[in-house]
This record gives sequence, structure tokens and C-alpha cells, in this order.
Amino acid sequence: MLLALKQVTKVFNEGTIDEKVALRSINLTLAPGDFVTIIGSNGAGKSTMMNIISGRLFPDTGSVWINGKDVTSLREHERARYIGRVFQDPLAGTAPNMTIEENLALAYNRTKRRTLKFGVTKKRRDFFREALATLHLGLENRLTAKVGLLSGGERQALSLLMATFTKPDLLLLDEHTAALDPARAELVTELTKEIVEKYKLTTLMVTHNMEQALRLGNRLIMMDQGQIIFEASGNEKQSLTVERLLQEFQRIRGSQFASDRAVLG
Ligand SMILES: Nc1ncnc2c1ncn2[C@@H]1O[C@H](COP(=O)(O)OP(=O)(O)O)[C@@H](O)[C@H]1O
Ligand SMILES: [Mg+2]
Repeated sequence: MLLALKQVTKVFNEGTIDEKVALRSINLTLAPGDFVTIIGSNGAGKSTMMNIISGRLFPDTGSVWINGKDVTSLREHERARYIGRVFQDPLAGTAPNMTIEENLALAYNRTKRRTLKFGVTKKRRDFFREALATLHLGLENRLTAKVGLLSGGERQALSLLMATFTKPDLLLLDEHTAALDPARAELVTELTKEIVEKYKLTTLMVTHNMEQALRLGNRLIMMDQGQIIFEASGNEKQSLTVERLLQEFQRIRGSQFASDRAVLG
């Protein structure tokens, strides 16, 4: 297994009036090369799950495993070598006052066990240029441009490159196209597909776009109220439609409400 979440629970503000159970005993395992899309209503716990995998948050109970190793107590920077991540906000993944090549150098060093300090050498620059060219945005000709000058779509494409060009064991995408206009979102989605396929990256992608969730990846999970309420993979996923997903959601939510009512009797 490349990733395993075992009985992961997360409660915010426990014991206060604001108590919120964000994750309820989540179990999830990913085999190498799995590309899992995640959908679910607002507040379902999707980002909390990503934060627990990346080490930004720690679970209250349960454990996180990467490559058969228990990483539950490792902090975010100690897991950074294994994980590439792109957030919803294009401003979150890159440093605006640094140039494109400086940003790439940072991302490159982040994944190294020891930071061998290096300037941007000719060899490194060629490597960056080649990587940037795969985005088809002409950024390879703007290595010394400040990232703050790029559009949201360009920044998000760069974030994606920075998260993946070192071939992390695990790629986490949290609504990374949600802040973009439809054309840019489509472009970044296509790039995502290309990069994940090229490097065969094990990927978890949260999206609010059901169509996208169906089109990409080999597995799909639906979350609601801190739980995984529906899963499909392989042929079953291939034959799913948005309509079916909505029906499934209604059915599960509906029966949950019904059983709650039965319990309350
Ligand atoms: N840092 C936090 N403090 C308190 N509550 C939080 C925090 N982060 C998330 N939550 C709550 O946990 C629940 C799940 O949030 P989140 O994981 O962000 O949902 P999603 O990403 O699926 O929209 C929500 O009710 C949210 O308000
Ligand atoms: Mg979220």
C-alpha cells in the first residue's frame, strides 16, 4: 500500500459548544498508481483529510501510513519529501516575489534529504526550462520573471509542476482548479491528467466538479459528514454518471435520515 489511513478521527474544538467532528473513523488505502477523485458537500471533511495526510494536522485517533511506514507523528516538513500538494488558492503554492526559476529551485530542494545549496546553474536551468515547456504556456522563456506577475492559471500550472517534477510518492490536489475561470480550469485539469499519467503518480484529488471527478482517475470516493459514504472503481466508476452520483448521494443521505428517525423513534 502506498497510503493507508486507519480509523482516522478528527474533532475540532472538542468539548466546547463549537465541537465539530470533521472525520469519523476514516479508513482508506491507496495502491501505487491509484488516482482517486474525491467529491462531497462543503464541510464534509475533505480538506481535513488532506491536511492529516500531509501532516499539517494530526489525527485525534488513528494512524497514517506511507509506503508501509507509520508517519502519524511526523510533522509536515518531515513528510514533504514524499508528498506534493496543490491548494485551491493560486497564491498559496508559489512565492510571488521570487522568480520562476527560484520557485522551482525551492521546490526541488524541498524534496532533498539534505539541502545542498546551489545557485541556479546552467544544467539546473536547462532542466527547469524543459519541465516548464511541458506546460505549453511559454513559461520556459520567462525563467527570471517574478511569479507575482503570472495569471492565476499560470501560477496554478506552475504550482502543479513544482509539486510533481520531483515525482513525489503521493500527490494531493485540493480543489486546485476551483478558483480559475472555466477555460483555465480546463487547461490545468488537462495538465494534471498528463502529469499524473506521465509519472504514474499516486494521486488524491478533491474536486467540486462531478464531471471532472468521473472523467479523471481510476477510483472515486464521496464524503459526507466526516465519512466516506460511497466508493466506486474500475468499470463501475467508468459507467457512473453525474445523475447516478446525485441519486446515490440522495439515497445514502435519505436512508441515513430515515434510520436516524427510526433510532429517535
Ligand atoms: N481549523 C478548524 N477549526 C475548527 N473547525 C474546522 C477547522 N477546519 C475545518 N473545520 C470544520 O471541520 C469540518 C470539515 O471541514 P473541511 O475539512 O474543510 O471540509 P471540506 O474541505 O470537505 O469542505 C467543517 O465543519 C469545518 O467547519
Ligand atoms: Mg475543502
